[in-house]
Amino acid sequence: MANIGSVRQRTSLGGSSLDEARRRLVFPLDYASLDEARAAAARVAPSIGVLKVGLELFVREGPAAIEIGRELGLDVFLDLKLHDIPQTVGRAVASAAALGVRYLTVHAGGGAEMLKRAAQEAARSQGLILLAVTVLTSLDDGDLAAQGVQGSASEHVLRLARLARSAGIHGFVASPHEVPALRQALGQGELLVTPGIRPGADEGGARGDDQKRIATPSAAISAGADLLVVGRPIRDAADPLAAARAIVQEIAHTLHPAS
Ligand code: C5P
Repeated sequence: MANIGSVRQRTSLGGSSLDEARRRLVFPLDYASLDEARAAAARVAPSIGVLKVGLELFVREGPAAIEIGRELGLDVFLDLKLHDIPQTVGRAVASAAALGVRYLTVHAGGGAEMLKRAAQEAARSQGLILLAVTVLTSLDDGDLAAQGVQGSASEHVLRLARLARSAGIHGFVASPHEVPALRQALGQGELLVTPGIRPGADEGGARGDDQKRIATPSAAISAGADLLVVGRPIRDAADPLAAARAIVQEIAHTLHPAS
């Protein structure tokens, strides 16, 4: 099993203030075609650290989408949110590792055996970091109750994160709201990734879209998040590079208030 400190250290989040902030920003390539994704990625590349390839693009374009990261010299986060029987997920993790991606998501709700098999395959790879998706930020307590889950979303996030960690996974996806409790429960060495980021959310000026558990970049960083996934606030901005740059500046200022 990987040493607990190593996963967070391996992401090399240090560096100058703006560079460190940039490396914490993950931009999802939520586009329908390779051409659109490549053009968008090239536009924002100076202000982001990681490109996330998700279901929309991967289902249509496959591994070619991952090449965009290589072309731009950026890490790729393959967000397939795997959830299947242990053998199938283990083999899919091995396939993803062979593509050279840096991060890959699996659903923590897939159970201990599935998570263990995924962790074993990742450990055989060259540097693949698994991220266990806890409770999607599009779900709230009411949605979980409707699924028969007892307790709050926050409690369920912690339950699932502990399960994933026991299986040997050291990266977690959750909303910024759960980050302080995750840090406390899991310690400093784990990598915490937060979607549901909305600049201006605390001023009531931001749309959550389908996200229900949202926070600003600054609040997520203050809470202890490592990587921030920001999609629509950049993708749908009139000037996506300027939007990404503003988020990087907000992150840098939160990390180093004097800078
Ligand atoms: O910032 P925005 O809401 O547009 O981000 C959406 C992106 O974040 C999508 O790519 C979605 O798959 C991803 N996401 C995630 N985990 C969640 C919620 C959203 O990876 N819990």
